[in-house]
Amino acid sequence: MTIEPINATAAREFAFTDADFAQIAHVAKTEFGLNLADSKKPLVYSRLAKRLRLRKLSTFQEYLALLSKANEEAEKTELLSALTTNVTHFFREMHHFEALGKDVIPDLMARAKKGERIRIWSAGCSSGQEPYSIALSILGAFPDVARYDFKILATDIDPNILARARDASYPKSELEAIPNTAHRFLDLNESDAKNFTISESARNLVSFGVLNLISDWPIKGPFDVIFCRNVTIYFDAETQRRLWDRFQNALSPSGYLFIGHSERVTGSATSAFRSIGVTAYQKTSPR
Ligand SMILES: C[S@@+](CC[C@H](N)C(=O)[O-])C[C@H]1O[C@@H](n2cnc3c(N)ncnc32)[C@H](O)[C@@H]1O
Repeated sequence: MTIEPINATAAREFAFTDADFAQIAHVAKTEFGLNLADSKKPLVYSRLAKRLRLRKLSTFQEYLALLSKANEEAEKTELLSALTTNVTHFFREMHHFEALGKDVIPDLMARAKKGERIRIWSAGCSSGQEPYSIALSILGAFPDVARYDFKILATDIDPNILARARDASYPKSELEAIPNTAHRFLDLNESDAKNFTISESARNLVSFGVLNLISDWPIKGPFDVIFCRNVTIYFDAETQRRLWDRFQNALSPSGYLFIGHSERVTGSATSAFRSIGVTAYQKTSPR
């Protein structure tokens, strides 16, 4: 028996030419810094075909025309959501939270107690598990942190995912990733079999905002710690290099940078950091 090669194009609901793909890739790069390799073409097709269906369009050219309209900013966000993943979980890469608890938080708390302003930035925070894990770590060590000027800024490009982060409600299946010692800062809602919420004391430490990492940053640094994990994997090498430089500039002297397990600091910023663990860095050069 011979197996016929599958003609993927013939099976497609919408025509998707190399030129269509190149134009989508151009929008993704200029708007969001995303790097769409040619190998992503089938994935891009399947993710965006849903958008075409939903917007009742019949060609990718119509979709591109839509994206260029000034009043279609929300569709650009949908495009970004379709091309990236929001996967995250509580205490992801636990070694970062161990380093935070052991090496970083005690020092930050001592400075906060002297009246210093302390800021932590979770850049690309998705649905909030990362900044809330940071908040739970801080509260565990310093339950009276609210008395000091100690805040976490959590940003993401996607307003839809930020709405979920602000909601602070998560399925109980996610509880097992949270150390038992932190459960006292959760509202376990015994009457709700499905969801728990982050307690007010942890929520109050975090403020959320929309921010595109490859655009201007309308935020007030410097930051003592930056978490930017599993975000730069989508960017091309040049965008990544620029970002490491900008993070370095946004950090206070001796500030800390935590990045994702498959990410590496590259370019001129490498000489400004010393490694303090796996994908964990401390700034060594003055700003
Ligand atoms: C895989 S999640 C990572 C979440 C969390 N940092 C973690 O490690 O679990 C990647 C997040 O980056 C966000 N993102 C992608 N491109 C971005 C950009 N240009 N600016 C800001 N956020 C971006 C996505 O919306 C998504 O929520």
